[in-house]
Parts: sequence; C-alpha cells; structure tokens
Amino acid sequence: MPRRDKLGRILIIDDQEANVRLLEQILAKAGYEDIASTTSSVDAHALHKQFKPDLVLLDVHMSGKDGFQVLEEIVAQNGDSEQVPVIMITADDSAHAKRRALALGAKDFLSKPFDSAEVLLRIRNLLETHFLYRKLRHQNTELEQKVTERTRELEQSQLEVLERLAAAVEFRDDDTGNHTKRVAQISARLGEAIGLESATLELISRAAPLHDIGKVGIPDNILLKAGPLTGEEFEIMKTHTVIGSRMLSKGRSELVRFSQRIARSHHEWWDGSGYPDRVSGQSIPLEARIVAAADFLDALTHDRPYRPAWGMDDTLAEIKRRAGSHFDPTVANALLGINWQASSVLVA
Ligand SMILES: [Fe+2]
Repeated sequence: MPRRDKLGRILIIDDQEANVRLLEQILAKAGYEDIASTTSSVDAHALHKQFKPDLVLLDVHMSGKDGFQVLEEIVAQNGDSEQVPVIMITADDSAHAKRRALALGAKDFLSKPFDSAEVLLRIRNLLETHFLYRKLRHQNTELEQKVTERTRELEQSQLEVLERLAAAVEFRDDDTGNHTKRVAQISARLGEAIGLESATLELISRAAPLHDIGKVGIPDNILLKAGPLTGEEFEIMKTHTVIGSRMLSKGRSELVRFSQRIARSHHEWWDGSGYPDRVSGQSIPLEARIVAAADFLDALTHDRPYRPAWGMDDTLAEIKRRAGSHFDPTVANALLGINWQASSVLVA
C-alpha cells in the first residue's frame, strides 16, 4: 500500500449516496484514507472550507445547487493562492457541459458508471501535478525569502561601513561620537510628533547619523578650527553636503537613498537661503528638514570649541524665531511641542 503521506485529502460531493459509497470504496482500496463526503450540495462549500481537500470530486447534476454553482464557490474560495483540482462527475457528456465546467475551473471529468482504474488514474495524475505545483510554490517562496534576507544582509553591511565612516568623521571633531546618535534620536522623535509612519521613522533614525559624512572630505585646518571660519573656509566647509551626497549616490536601497537626501539637503533653509542648492519649502526633502532642526537643536545645546552650550529655553526661542525662515514651520512647531527637558535624548 502506498504511504499515506503520499496520498491526498479527497472531498466527494454527490447527491447520490450510492455514488459516494462506490467512490469511497474505490479510493479506500487504493489506500486513500483522508476522505470526506457529502450528499448535500448546499453543505458542500462549508465542508470544503473546513476539510481543506487536495482534490474534489464533484457531481454536476445535483438537487439544490448544481455542480457548476458549487464549483464557482470552491474556485472563489481558493482565490489566486492555490487552486485545488476539481474533477467533475457527469453522466452528461455533452461538449457544452464540459466546456462550461472547464471555463469555471474544473480540471478533468469522470463519467458514470465509474471505471475504477480510470477514477484512480485521473485522481493520481491530478494530485501529483497539484503536489508538484505546491512544492514549487513553496520552493519559490523559500527562495524569495532567502533573496530578501541576503539583500538585507548586504544592505546592512553596506550601511555598517557607512556608519563606521560617519563615526570616524565625527571622532575628528567630537571624540564622544554622540552628536550623530543624538541627532538620530531627536529626528526620530520629531518624525513621530509629525505623524510619520514607523517604517519612515526607522529610516530616519538610521540615515540621520550619516548627515555629515561628507566632512570626511574637509581639511582638518578647517574642520577642527577653534575660531570662526573665514568666508573662504566656510565655502569649503559647505561642500560637506555635496561630498556626502556623492558618497551616498547611486544607492540601491531606500535607506542609502534616504541618507543621500539628508546629507545633501540638511543645510537648506525653508526660505531658500541655505546651501548647497538653495531650494526652499517642500522642495527640500522632509527628512532633511527634520534632520536640519534636530542638528541645530543638538548643536546649540552642546559646547563647541568656539562657543559654550546654549540653555534650552534660549535654544527653543531661537528655533521659534527661525520657524518659517530657517526651519519648516511644521517641523519647528512639532519640535517646540516636545518636552525636551523630560526627554533623555539630549543628555548623552
Ligand atoms: Fe552638516
């Protein structure tokens, strides 16, 4: 007897009790054990849903609902995911009935009276095809998952390299490396207050630490200068946006593209007087507008070689004053609505 796990679950729907019994006997003799049956076409749909067969034997001519109606219900229930093969049982060999059944999704026909060899052959063939198809689908799903995982791993390692580079840049002028971490946290908090969805918040908090990555290309005598920069030096300093943007260009992942927009546009001003592109308003990517405010808040509330830290009240007043000129008013309002004193993000 064939192994049970190689066989399938079969549902018989036929309003003639004698036909059902006969089919059950033929199947049982061949080793099929998972069989359900009903003589009520009205109950067939519910039974199909509950039994979850691998194959259905369905009579065409039944009282109540006919086989075509039941077939439509079964096909609709299966949806696109997995079509369970249906064999129509018919005494009616008319081409019209067969075409109609095929059009509705039936896979094969069995004529009454039954020839047991033919019954078993057709059932076995369809089940084999069905299981092969299912196996293929399963393998495809596994393959897709592996590709997704692999892509994520690659993106992850790509990002780690960039994060280390950003940290290396920061160590040059801030040996704690905490500024970028805080900017990431503040940006995420701001994004949350604005109502961004969690996937975007995740992107912001991962991309924000890279905002100044272009400083890797700024000479030490400018980057580490204790006093104010000359006009010429400041022009060179400004190029960290373009350098960072180039470093992150042509990224295939959403995260790298996101980081690139932030690196390029985090010094743009809402009124168009920022740099490097002098874009204004909503033409500045939202993520860059958020990081701009976060960067400013954190920079002002911490000591710099050329000035001591500002108090929180003064900093917030300055941000308020700059809402609509420097900062996106919506972002600035969100920032002013947050109780930063109670928040731990500015402490580290
Ligand atoms: Fe910057």
